[in-house]
Amino acid sequence: MAIQGSRRRPRLVLIVLALCTGVSVACSPGGNAGGPQGDPGQVTALFNARCGICHGADGKMGYNNATDLSTSALSRDEVVARILQGKGTMPPFRDLLTADQVQLLTDYTLQLRKATP
Ligand code: HEC
Repeated sequence: MAIQGSRRRPRLVLIVLALCTGVSVACSPGGNAGGPQGDPGQVTALFNARCGICHGADGKMGYNNATDLSTSALSRDEVVARILQGKGTMPPFRDLLTADQVQLLTDYTLQLRKATP
């Protein structure tokens, strides 16, 4: 009863794994992105994919009149609300992100300020 001949395309599995870990935290069961800290690499990838298009990886790009996040003065609660509700040309992310992802992206957004010289 050797299970042979059914081992196909291990490379495909690797690609799927890479997509899951790199692009979407939603792949993890229960939506728990590895605890409250999450994986910094994953959060960066998530920010770049979801927010970087307009704000840029450093928050300063300003595409579509996007606010410079490195000089933003919003409180933590206001940042959470902005992500959930959007404003102007910024779309609401309420239905696109898990609650964990919103928290992680909020932390990431706030630390972009400290990264400014
Ligand atoms: C389609 C472009 C676009 C995307 C994508 C986008 N934003 Fe924005 N964002 C904007 C624009 C435009 C504004 C300014 C809205 C206004 O005040 O009229 C803004 C404002 C903000 C603000 C408020 C800053 C301040 O001081 O007023 C925060 C915080 C923010 N965005 C975070 C994020 C995060 C986090 C993401 C990813 C989940 C994201 N944005 C995705 C365009 C975008």
